[in-house]
Amino acid sequence: MTDSSLNADELVDSLKWRYAVKRFDPARSIDPETWAKLEESLVLTPSSFGLQPWKFLIVQSAELKAKLPSISWNQPQPKDCSHMVVLASLKTVSVEYVDHFLETTASIRSVPIESLAPYRQMILGFLKNIAGHELVWSSKQAYIALGQLMASAAVLGIDACPMEGIVAHEYDQLLGLAGTNYTCVVGCAMGYRHAEDKYATAPKIRFQPDEVISRL
Ligand SMILES: Cc1cc2nc3c(=O)[nH]c(=O)nc-3n(C[C@H](O)[C@H](O)[C@H](O)COP(=O)(O)O)c2cc1C
Repeated sequence: MTDSSLNADELVDSLKWRYAVKRFDPARSIDPETWAKLEESLVLTPSSFGLQPWKFLIVQSAELKAKLPSISWNQPQPKDCSHMVVLASLKTVSVEYVDHFLETTASIRSVPIESLAPYRQMILGFLKNIAGHELVWSSKQAYIALGQLMASAAVLGIDACPMEGIVAHEYDQLLGLAGTNYTCVVGCAMGYRHAEDKYATAPKIRFQPDEVISRL
């Protein structure tokens, strides 16, 4: 634990404080230093094999954000939030992509690329098994990033609304992903709750721990 770690009670308090914001305060934006840490949290997300099959699009431009509700089931959060994060996943994973990852690994860990040959075979074997369905796998990785982002935001006192209510192909078109190997999977509007968002005080709806946790 570092000196600045939360204690366990503070962690749970943060998780209880967070909720899926329905109404953001459009007048408030996240300061650049805090935002930089949230970006770091995204980049630090773990992924299967470490392959990081994602792109994180950060929409801050008011002009672009204004176009989002109409392609988000008419929800206002993407327009009124401070930063709209759109998590996009790789549609297919090429051998070149894997090799780029392995070259990065060899360079960061200062090991010869040849020493990673068994790992390479393992990854390529896995990818062969999911051929044609890579997006199912890569989307799961994006959701890990979403979870990490939301939890990180909560401990920093930043509000968020995870958003599956987005029309992926319209987002792809607007944000320049159409025709690329990435597609939008899920969004996360981030900023500060509006003082009048009644959902902030609504009791959380969760099953009892014993209904969802089995201790064996
Ligand atoms: C992957 C995911 C997608 C969601 N999509 C939306 C959405 O499009 N719009 C919305 O208002 N809430 C959305 N939610 C919020 C959930 O409804 C909410 O998290 C859930 O009801 C629990 O409430 P709480 O987050 O306030 O504790 C989404 C949540 C998740 C995890």
